[in-house]
Amino acid sequence: MEVIIQPDPGSGSVLAAQIISNLLKRKPNAVLGLATGNTPLRLYKELIDMYKRGEIDFSRVTTFNLDEYVGLPCDHPASYNYFMYENFFKHVNIPKNQIHIPDGAVEDIPAFCLAYEQAIKDAGGIDLQLLGIGRDGHIGFNEPVSSLSSRTRIKTLMEQTLKDNETFFEREDHIPHHVITMGIGTVMESGSILLLAFGTGKAHSIAQTVEGPLTAMVPASILQLHPHAKIILDKDAATHLSRAAYYQTTYDGKPDWQKF
Ligand code: GLP
Repeated sequence: MEVIIQPDPGSGSVLAAQIISNLLKRKPNAVLGLATGNTPLRLYKELIDMYKRGEIDFSRVTTFNLDEYVGLPCDHPASYNYFMYENFFKHVNIPKNQIHIPDGAVEDIPAFCLAYEQAIKDAGGIDLQLLGIGRDGHIGFNEPVSSLSSRTRIKTLMEQTLKDNETFFEREDHIPHHVITMGIGTVMESGSILLLAFGTGKAHSIAQTVEGPLTAMVPASILQLHPHAKIILDKDAATHLSRAAYYQTTYDGKPDWQKF
């Protein structure tokens, strides 16, 4: 696990965009696993700007999103489908048939989940999986005690996650309690992981993820077993890390070619 502490969310997002841009230079047909939430919004803006400046081309990229609410049609403003099109896809040149997001309105959820796993395999697997993290240490929507080898499936959200995410819903809408999410086993098969966390609200779950024991109570702690996981933090999200100075010195001492 490589922990990279940046001064603020802006510089963390720029660094994440450079890492993705470098991957696309090496592999223009890369498969990206994408995430929603407030955390990756600046990264998406950065990638859009790079695309507009002609620095990055997504025409051969394939994407798979992590999760979606069950029962929401794709055009619902609080759906992750809507989020992804509004905040990223409609601004860049990824062909629509190369974009995959779980469909929360599907009737046969188990069959859909199997097909989603198969589609990831057929695409050659995910090269880079982008992740945020919940306050309780969840990744995707894999809440604590999720099987650490789980695959794409339906899950029930915890109270804290419902509260944290209800800001995306209008008052008259009820946030769905069920979701479809890639499993932890699915995420762990990605070639590389890029987890972003900003703000003091994430400091506790980040300390547990990076320095705590590996446990299903903190699903993100499984990343300790991934050979290529980068954790990009701002100073606030790093406040509970006991080895922060070591991570900082290590990263600062790297030559530029190793930083991205
Ligand atoms: C939701 C999403 C996660 C995301 C998390 C944190 O639970 N399913 O993928 O990482 O929220 O969101 P935020 O970045 O808004 O804190």
